[in-house]
Amino acid sequence: MSKKTFFYFLLFVLSTFYVQGQIKTSDRKILAPTPPMGWMSWNFFAEKINEKELKEIADAMVSVGMVNAGYNYIFIDDCWQGGRDNKNNIIADPVKFPSGIKALADYMHSKGMKLGIYSDAALLTCAGYTASLHFEKQDAKTFASWGIDYLKYDYCNAPENTDTAKARYKRMADALRKSGRDIMLGVCEWGPRKPWLWGTEAGGQLWRTTYDIRDKWKKKPEEKWGDGILDILDVNAELAEYAGPGKWNDADMLITGLYGKKGPSGDGGGTGCTDTEYQSQFSLWAIMNSPLYASNDLRNMNETTKNILLNKEVIAINQDALGMQAIRVIKNDTLNVFVKALANGDFAIAVLNRSDLPQNVIISFPVIGLTDKYEIRDLWLHKTIGKGKRWKGIVQSHETRMFRLKKAS
Ligand code: GLA
Repeated sequence: MSKKTFFYFLLFVLSTFYVQGQIKTSDRKILAPTPPMGWMSWNFFAEKINEKELKEIADAMVSVGMVNAGYNYIFIDDCWQGGRDNKNNIIADPVKFPSGIKALADYMHSKGMKLGIYSDAALLTCAGYTASLHFEKQDAKTFASWGIDYLKYDYCNAPENTDTAKARYKRMADALRKSGRDIMLGVCEWGPRKPWLWGTEAGGQLWRTTYDIRDKWKKKPEEKWGDGILDILDVNAELAEYAGPGKWNDADMLITGLYGKKGPSGDGGGTGCTDTEYQSQFSLWAIMNSPLYASNDLRNMNETTKNILLNKEVIAINQDALGMQAIRVIKNDTLNVFVKALANGDFAIAVLNRSDLPQNVIISFPVIGLTDKYEIRDLWLHKTIGKGKRWKGIVQSHETRMFRLKKAS
């Protein structure tokens, strides 16, 4: 081989490595290209979590077809911790997790699923368990060695100011990035410090926009706290401009199928919702590109709950590759209309009736910025219902109708 040929050969080999390196780096940048989906332990189990029941939930997710529909995460929320060992490594509660978290992660991975875990940017978590402040690097390495894929990082017992929050989230994000494993970071400071403005810069892939959801439609005027579906909707719907692939507004867990179960979601007036309201939440969370985390007991679901959680046509709107959060184009006390552009040129629309009476509704597409003629598919009836420049129909009290519009000739 001549010197010149050797030089070109070397250049070729090096550029191949460079391109591969670039692909790897850019892969990393888009952790969570679509909103994460799965199941979170808090609302149903709270402190009563253990590996046996988490495995049962995972098995149920496979057998009812949830994993197949895209729900591939199990998120262990607070209360899993057992303190630190004599080398300050964080450890799981040996009674709740006798086989250890690594074995649980291996179990999830063997089922084609992923495992998320929880910590907090202070000395103690919200429920008073061991948290990660001052141990960010060590804990990130431990999580990576266990095979964790996501960290929900809470903000209880931490200083109120935004700069400290940003710095603490960034410290954990940097530690995760250097942990040797791709671990998504969910910022969970509940909205007071507007994490949508700095969550990406701090290294998060998603951020909670509100305080915890309770199992209710909306807060009553006399209630001091306890957000329901509408309270959270009204915050999250205004934040569309901040969402996109790898940066999601997290409107908190789905309460579908909880039916007023006592537990954290049952506090603050969370006495339960109707199936229509649960279906509404699912539609609205999906079109707003919120992560979809079920939080009910997936081992014991009735058919209605299954039909809501497994509506693949609605899930496809949430998981659409364009990653655009719907814009609320009509907003009054009775009706809210959302429009979301989709990657293939279609549009999704959602029509919510906030009032206590059924409403006859006409949506003229040009009025909401859609100027073509469209084929209209009803995503809850699973049926193409017509073609035209408007939709006319009834929306029941607290119902959300959802449609996919395809340009028609
Ligand atoms: C906070 C979070 C909840 C849950 C609990 C656990 O309240 O917002 O989602 O993680 O802590 O203690």
